[in-house]
Amino acid sequence: MSQQLTSTAQHYIAGEWTDGDGDGDRTFESLNPATGEVLGEFRQGTDADVDAALAAADDAQQQWRALSYIDRAEYLWEIYHELRDRHQELGEIVTQECGKEISEGKADVAEAWHMVEWAAGNARHPHGDVVPSEIPAKDAYMRRKPRGIVGCITPWNFPVAIPFWHMAVALVEGNTVVWKPAEQTPWCGQIIAEMFDESGIPEGVFNMVQGFGDAGNAIVEDARVDTVLFTGSAEVGHKIAGKVGGEPGKLAACEMGGKNGIVITEEADLDIAVHSAIMSSFKTTGQRCVSSERLIVHADVYDEFKERFVEIAEGVKIGDPLEEDTFMGPVVDADQVEKFHKYNELAREEDANVLVDRAEPGAEELPDDGEDGFWVGPFAYEIEYDPELRCLQEEVFGPHVALVEYEGDVAEAIAIHNDVPYGLAGAIISEDYRQINAFRDHGEVGLGYANLPCIGAEVHLPFGGVKKSGNGYPSAREVIEAVTERTAFTLNNSKEIEMAQGLSADITTSQD
Ligand code: UN1
Repeated sequence: MSQQLTSTAQHYIAGEWTDGDGDGDRTFESLNPATGEVLGEFRQGTDADVDAALAAADDAQQQWRALSYIDRAEYLWEIYHELRDRHQELGEIVTQECGKEISEGKADVAEAWHMVEWAAGNARHPHGDVVPSEIPAKDAYMRRKPRGIVGCITPWNFPVAIPFWHMAVALVEGNTVVWKPAEQTPWCGQIIAEMFDESGIPEGVFNMVQGFGDAGNAIVEDARVDTVLFTGSAEVGHKIAGKVGGEPGKLAACEMGGKNGIVITEEADLDIAVHSAIMSSFKTTGQRCVSSERLIVHADVYDEFKERFVEIAEGVKIGDPLEEDTFMGPVVDADQVEKFHKYNELAREEDANVLVDRAEPGAEELPDDGEDGFWVGPFAYEIEYDPELRCLQEEVFGPHVALVEYEGDVAEAIAIHNDVPYGLAGAIISEDYRQINAFRDHGEVGLGYANLPCIGAEVHLPFGGVKKSGNGYPSAREVIEAVTERTAFTLNNSKEIEMAQGLSADITTSQD
């Protein structure tokens, strides 16, 4: 079933649908990556549109923060029900717009309502701490306040879930938001904005400007924005973190890519190893920031693992992402296709021994012979470990995966695993709890797994990485730190002033 938008979709600013600053000629299209078909046309935001959205968010701030957490959460509960009721329809739209197969399209919507549930439910949970004091007459507390305006810039690979990672908690905590959806998935953005509109949320609390990097940049650079939340490429994330880091009082929480790895030891159950590796490398056509592009396999099990992995990689079904038996849909756009081929070529230049080359799947296995779609398939190779190899260091964001053989102790595998600039997700496959715990303790990751794929985190876990993969956590429960200020508040119940640390409270004068 295929759906489409019929008129040019607008921005949502100050509770109104708008063409924006009058430069209405600036529009862009969303394409279905499986077919190249145009799904809809959208206004392309300018600096002036971002300015208007920020002014609206600023105007709405005081009234919104004056509401109780529980009243603010009521609007989010409306959206929670809407997401659940429209699960199938929205899942199909995600699939049509970003190309991931339908179980993934639907999981994206489910992940969104899980995040909304967490954020809205948290409105009734304690929001601070009662803290002991050295002085018995003092009551000390940690309290939270909203930071103010939160700017959200979200990616196309989770076009419904990640916007809610950013916005659900930010709103319940009392911030107002200005959001720019990814330019590849503006239709999902449109639907989310419609849901906010229908929820009756006060005008200016939620604002959406469609567009490209220039609109995102206008959000990042504006002094009215207190927190920038960004999920996306390392290249853009590092620029944002650099810019915002130089501005006192402003915060950025960025979650970026990875060069994630799976360690498969000599104690691995190979059924679990092969299953986990295939899922981690090829699900979402390799386009999760937690996807795995490195499989680090012990010499004792290497040959058997390789044979079994290759056999399945040769067979996974590429096809129409709306069909339930499809394993891999297309990648999102022509740039992703090009980048994928470029890195496959680089791996060959770096002396990879190619094991699976379905990089250009045959017309016969694709819907409409693959014409006009952005189709790729698994590309797997083995390569001798060398930390200088770019194909083992740089993120591809596609179904491109290296098998690297290691010998000796699990520490050797962990050293190879950690030898990348990133540290987002990783897994170990082993039946030996000591090996698992060594990876748990020494693997440089924000999300670690044992005997599982390294994808599929649930929203109530912190989601974020170490090293170049991120700073701050723009998601799940941890986002609360990025969108609130903490106040340490101390009350004296005595008529006397008594200080901590043994500090004298006596005031002496020259008359003493
Ligand atoms: C991403 O890869 O950008 O852990 C997000 C997962 C999902 C989120 C992935 N819950 O695989």
